[in-house]
Amino acid sequence: MAHILIVGANGATARIVTERLLRETTDTLVLYLRNARRLARYAGNARVTVIEGDATDVPALTAAMVGIDLVYANLGGTALASTTNALVAAMSAAGVARLIFYSALGALHEVPGKFGAWNEQAIAAYLPGFRESAKILAAHPALNATQIRPAWLTDRDEIDYETTSADDPFRGTEVSRQSVADFVVRLIKDPTLYPNDSIGLNKPNTDGDKPAWM
Ligand SMILES: NC(=O)c1ccc[n+]([C@@H]2O[C@H](COP(=O)([O-])OP(=O)(O)OC[C@H]3O[C@@H](n4cnc5c(N)ncnc54)[C@H](OP(=O)(O)O)[C@@H]3O)[C@@H](O)[C@H]2O)c1
Repeated sequence: MAHILIVGANGATARIVTERLLRETTDTLVLYLRNARRLARYAGNARVTVIEGDATDVPALTAAMVGIDLVYANLGGTALASTTNALVAAMSAAGVARLIFYSALGALHEVPGKFGAWNEQAIAAYLPGFRESAKILAAHPALNATQIRPAWLTDRDEIDYETTSADDPFRGTEVSRQSVADFVVRLIKDPTLYPNDSIGLNKPNTDGDKPAWM
């Protein structure tokens, strides 16, 4: 049994991960989020502790990490680097040495061709945060981060994905949140997978100049 902290716990993928961990493991979960009443349904669940806080609040994050084995960061937004810096500070202070970090395609300038050029402008406001976070985490190998770089997210009811390594060109244009959650659950069940690494996730055979629905 492991003790897992999920930061950004009301994120759409985080909610899937939480439900799967409760069903498939005996892990205990600390769910950290803004506006904790959104997860009021877990009140009374002995395996779940809900903490309200902002992911830039280092003292609050550090306190939430007491006794934690692994942190899963399901954050986002244009200020991602500031929450990444806060995670690094809190994990270092609390002595936690395993991080699963939600990044995105393009974080490593790895998306080739027309889709890469389109993606570059489509998420231009967010790419600096993913890229800066990748540098911050690379500079802190003691935190043993696995960065996940999914393609464009869908809410399709499917688990169907393949992976690319940090040195591979990115493949595909889309992937479901259920697939990302499946990969996260795999890493939580076996935290020795992909140490200090960055993994691309895509649905097979979805190559194109942009996601199919755009
Ligand atoms: N959309 C795409 O196609 C795509 C593709 C690849 C990667 N991504 C990345 O994947 C991430 C996760 O996707 P998702 O759909 O699972 O997430 P999501 O539903 O967008 O959730 C992101 C969560 O981050 C939380 N958050 C942001 N800043 C915070 C802070 N300072 N303190 C506490 N919480 C904070 C938000 O909290 P609040 O609910 O309180 O605002 C939100 O619940 C995205 O945010 C993006 O970075 C997206």
